[in-house]
Amino acid sequence: MDAISVIRAKRDGHPLSDEQIDWVIDAYTRGAVADEQMSALAMAILLNGMTRAEIARWTAAMIASGERMDFSSLARPTADKHSTGGVGDKITLPLAPLVAACGAAVPQLSGRGLGHTGGTLDKLESIPGWRASLSNAEMLGILDSAGAVVCAAGDGLAPADKKLYALRDVTGTVEAIPLIASSIMSKKIAEGTGSLVLDVKVGSGAFMKTVEDARELASTMVGLGTDHGVRTVALLTDMSTPLGRTAGNALEVRESVEVLAGGGPADVVELTLALAREMLAAAGLPDADPAKALADGSAMDVWRRMIAAQGGDPDADLPVAREQHVVTAPTSGVLTSLDAYAVGVAAWRLGAGRARKEDPVQAGAGVELHAKPGERVEAGAPLMTLHTDTPEKFDYALAALDDAFALGDTAVDVPASVVLER
Ligand code: URA
Repeated sequence: MDAISVIRAKRDGHPLSDEQIDWVIDAYTRGAVADEQMSALAMAILLNGMTRAEIARWTAAMIASGERMDFSSLARPTADKHSTGGVGDKITLPLAPLVAACGAAVPQLSGRGLGHTGGTLDKLESIPGWRASLSNAEMLGILDSAGAVVCAAGDGLAPADKKLYALRDVTGTVEAIPLIASSIMSKKIAEGTGSLVLDVKVGSGAFMKTVEDARELASTMVGLGTDHGVRTVALLTDMSTPLGRTAGNALEVRESVEVLAGGGPADVVELTLALAREMLAAAGLPDADPAKALADGSAMDVWRRMIAAQGGDPDADLPVAREQHVVTAPTSGVLTSLDAYAVGVAAWRLGAGRARKEDPVQAGAGVELHAKPGERVEAGAPLMTLHTDTPEKFDYALAALDDAFALGDTAVDVPASVVLER
């Protein structure tokens, strides 16, 4: 078998055989297939798609590229959630401690930013001292003591995905249903969670721009999870406008802590509670009350334990970017739209995301929103504040925001809920 024949087969629109899939994933993991060859194959998959049978085999090969974890020694049922990625999507931060406070164990293996979307690990790394990498034994220990752990997947878990995820980020090959579904589900199945809730984002700031594509991704992932014995549920949620009022690493940590303290933006609170209820039901704890755990401070207690267990100081000041630039409303009116993709690209260009896989991110960079769709603003009032350590990037970020928002004369219908479908 050789990489070129596998690339050519997919380039020419043929389904890959089980042997081709097993070989290419194994050879890529071992370094026998080069990054440039895998990039070409990923692009061919993005352009020509995969059958459900190919996706199932690709996922199984990625799981088999590494070890599987085992949480059966834990006294509590395990529940995990995964988002397909969005702008301002900080939900994992309040959600993991909240669900743990309600009685489940939450092993939350998370990723770094991908393209214009933020990454949970990049966000948490803005907390002084916090470290993302844990051994399996440390992870189990924190799960046992704090109830929740958010960390990087260990090198041993689906290593094929680790390499491919970083490669897709910088080769324009993220937005492919087969690659997203297999990437997410290989990690979740190898992780060994008993139940999984998928937050499948839809809209300009998501990888899936239409409800039809999001449904296809959701049903592909639910099928993969169910086939591997994981109780899997998916919600389709709105990503046409950013979640909450911040997009950026430390900015989003600050907003998440507000939610844990009983405040925070209504859409973030709503989605956190909706996902918590799904996770608790899937874990066999349908009577737990996450709204109470937010209100009585027990979720905040778990957050503090969880951050401290990974070396972070929950009381430390979060980093602030060196420079700020305020974008003001050109006229008075109601904000009728605020485009998630544009805000995500602006945050990324300000330094919150990376252009090459080895790039560092800036902890303080990002976009703070002073108005959300449906709210009235007056001419000259601040609409957004851009934050960066590298002010020479302001123009580049502002260019992304050229058509990002619209102001109108009359009130607009803002969707009643960020949850579109279950
Ligand atoms: N999250 C993942 O883990 N993988 C993807 O491909 C997209 C989002």
